[in-house]
Amino acid sequence: MTKHLIKNGRVLTPEGTQSCDVRIEDGKIVELAPGLSPEGARVLDAAGCWVLPGLVDIHCHLREPGFEHKEDIASGTAAAARGGFTSICCMANTNPVNDNAVVTEFIRKKALQAGPIRVYPIAAVTKGLKGEELTEVGDLLDAGAVALSDDGKSVKNAHRMRLALSYAKRFGMTIISHPEDEDLVNGGVMNEGHWSTALGMPGTTRVAEESIIARDCMLAELEDTKIHIAHVSTAGGAEIIRWAKKRGGKVTCETAPHYLYATDAWVEGYDACTKVNPPLRTEDDRRALIEALKDGTIDCIATDHAPHHEDEKNVEYALAAPGISGFETALSICWTSLVVPGHLRPEALFNLLTAAPAKILGLDAGSLELGKSADVTVFDPEASWTVNPGEFVSRGKNTPFAGKTLTGLVSHTFAQGILAYGNSHAD
Ligand code: DOR
Repeated sequence: MTKHLIKNGRVLTPEGTQSCDVRIEDGKIVELAPGLSPEGARVLDAAGCWVLPGLVDIHCHLREPGFEHKEDIASGTAAAARGGFTSICCMANTNPVNDNAVVTEFIRKKALQAGPIRVYPIAAVTKGLKGEELTEVGDLLDAGAVALSDDGKSVKNAHRMRLALSYAKRFGMTIISHPEDEDLVNGGVMNEGHWSTALGMPGTTRVAEESIIARDCMLAELEDTKIHIAHVSTAGGAEIIRWAKKRGGKVTCETAPHYLYATDAWVEGYDACTKVNPPLRTEDDRRALIEALKDGTIDCIATDHAPHHEDEKNVEYALAAPGISGFETALSICWTSLVVPGHLRPEALFNLLTAAPAKILGLDAGSLELGKSADVTVFDPEASWTVNPGEFVSRGKNTPFAGKTLTGLVSHTFAQGILAYGNSHAD
């Protein structure tokens, strides 16, 4: 195996930031110290860059099996690597749905063939995502599922959700709630408010999200079990989670990069790449989410990478598939919207994308330490670049950030000691 030496970077370790070199051998981090000599390793000069634990994403869509025209595990993991992610958890809304051990095992096998990015399948809560029959949690756990979610839909029947929480608890599995009341969505295609009125489009009330957040937090409390709330997008949603946590609820939650940067004003122009579930919200929501990240109400950031084919976006707004191809812009969007304006310190942001999400699902990832798997991301905080979806390695080019200039860029990603992204460096 090729040996690597990453020199002169600012290295984020569990003990804090250190100016040192990182030696990678046999897939592991074997030395962390200043002034190391190559000793046969390829040397990467990371002067001026952050050297981070490989990023961890607990919410993405890889689309395989069944929707390979949007993405497959090989293209999705390549996109993850380009975004600095080395451990990713993929949602169950594939075809067939990941609601049984065969599909879970298929995903893991494909991921091993694809390369060194670790893929952790999230299996469905209900068979076929239909909200009715619960899946076999023990089988799914044995097959390698790390959590359960009907993401894309909430479990509509509250009693069924209660049973699912109580069943999952016996196996120590976390349920990830997709908070969206489809009756309240009622055909809405964007956030209900000033812009939906101005643009003449059906809006979705924020209560569609907030009512299910409240319901699922209360059900988890009732069953004394944990729950993770996906893609929180509203001020009210964050407030409800703050309340649930204060009561001692075992609640964690995430938001996604696009909710921290973009708002429903971006829908002006009717670009279907701005269509996402939950929808882009208002500037007040965006600011409230940032406050919720600062005070710890929001535990982590997840991409909700949702690639779609051009033909599924190049249609009337109401008919377009919701979702944003997010891996390749995630860290830059977060850096630009959170660190550059001074809302978060760099280390706080990195934690939200590494150790914090790993802890939520109990993954052995997100920490750059001696002896650990060499999952390492090199990030240049000064680089300024313009998003060109034509350069995405994801099959999904669907991003509302096309043409935006962002600050900070991943230059290299090592996964299990292998260079998974970045120009190969000197011997
Ligand atoms: O925008 C979204 N797209 N939100 C989801 O919850 C599902 C996802 C998808 O699968 O495309």
